[in-house]
Amino acid sequence: MTQPTTSTEPHALIVKPSPDAIKTAAELLGSGQLVALPTETVYGLGADACNNDAVKGIYDAKGRPSHNPLICHVTGKEMAAAYVNIPPLAEKLMDHFWPGPFTIVLKRKNSPLAERVTAGLETLAVRCPGQADTLAVITALGRPIAAPSANPSGKLSPTAAEHVAEGLGHKVALILDGGPSPVGIESTIVSVKGDHVTVLRPGSITSDQILAVTGAVPIQRNAQSQINAPGQLSSHYAPNAAVRLNVTHHKSGEVMIGFGSVEGDFNLSANGDLDEAAEKLFATMRLADEKAAGGTIAIAPIPEHGVGIAINDRLIRAAAPRDP
Ligand code: TXA
Ligand code: MG
Repeated sequence: MTQPTTSTEPHALIVKPSPDAIKTAAELLGSGQLVALPTETVYGLGADACNNDAVKGIYDAKGRPSHNPLICHVTGKEMAAAYVNIPPLAEKLMDHFWPGPFTIVLKRKNSPLAERVTAGLETLAVRCPGQADTLAVITALGRPIAAPSANPSGKLSPTAAEHVAEGLGHKVALILDGGPSPVGIESTIVSVKGDHVTVLRPGSITSDQILAVTGAVPIQRNAQSQINAPGQLSSHYAPNAAVRLNVTHHKSGEVMIGFGSVEGDFNLSANGDLDEAAEKLFATMRLADEKAAGGTIAIAPIPEHGVGIAINDRLIRAAAPRDP
């Protein structure tokens, strides 16, 4: 446990998972406080999903627009069933991909869920994360945990406890430190209506995998097609530096993030392994951002297949024009 020593350091307590830490995290959530939790994708900024004031705290802490709904993290299908209607196709997806980096948007039911979680929508996004300690916190709380990525709105997502402390440290009661997030990019989000699956945000679970499980060809919606989910604002995942994509020869002064044989100051995967690149993406962009000191980050081409589609989705948003 690290205790802050000066007022300039992050204020949050960072604790390693233990039965005591899990109990404390659940108690803090139950009393309306915010707790950052590890997941296999990125760290989440959690609040009791049935406490409207606590959920408001998430929007305030992140500076998140109130029209951008949150994902509810559940222990599984049974908990989800109290909050959403689960048609057979969605059940198939849950059985196959849960726990895991997979979020399903479904029609919400009447339930004690806080109004603010869904930002007025008739649908709710549910996900069962594949991180045992975080599942234990949800079980101990006994209700879903609403959690967006634990970063200030629009900034790089956190894949380590220290990233959360840097961005939001003074705004959370506790950070549960589960180590680096092994997947590294946010969950695949699909919406399921009748026989149709639409991919709202690509992730490490690919359309081919969804097709293999359901037999339904998923409809694609990503940065290349259109901005769709309410929160899929054009500029997102933005470092302070400018970002230039598909670079094989960087200009002098640019900080280069390589991939495969395209070398750089950093390399997402010298072997050209897309899973490794996803895992390292946000942490590498943080390091590159520090080195670039307000200049430009150049990034090598990433192949547009498999999890590369999700990586490119994040990169396109990172490079998108910023609001003045
Ligand atoms: O991997 C993840 O999904 C992480 C971890 C913490 O679970 N969470 C995450 O949350 O990435 P967030 O808030 O950063 O991104 C959730 C996205 C937003 O773009 C939001 O607009 C969309 O999900 N979303 C949430 N509820 C929705 C709904 N009912 N319909 C459509 N999109 C929804
Ligand atoms: Mg996010």
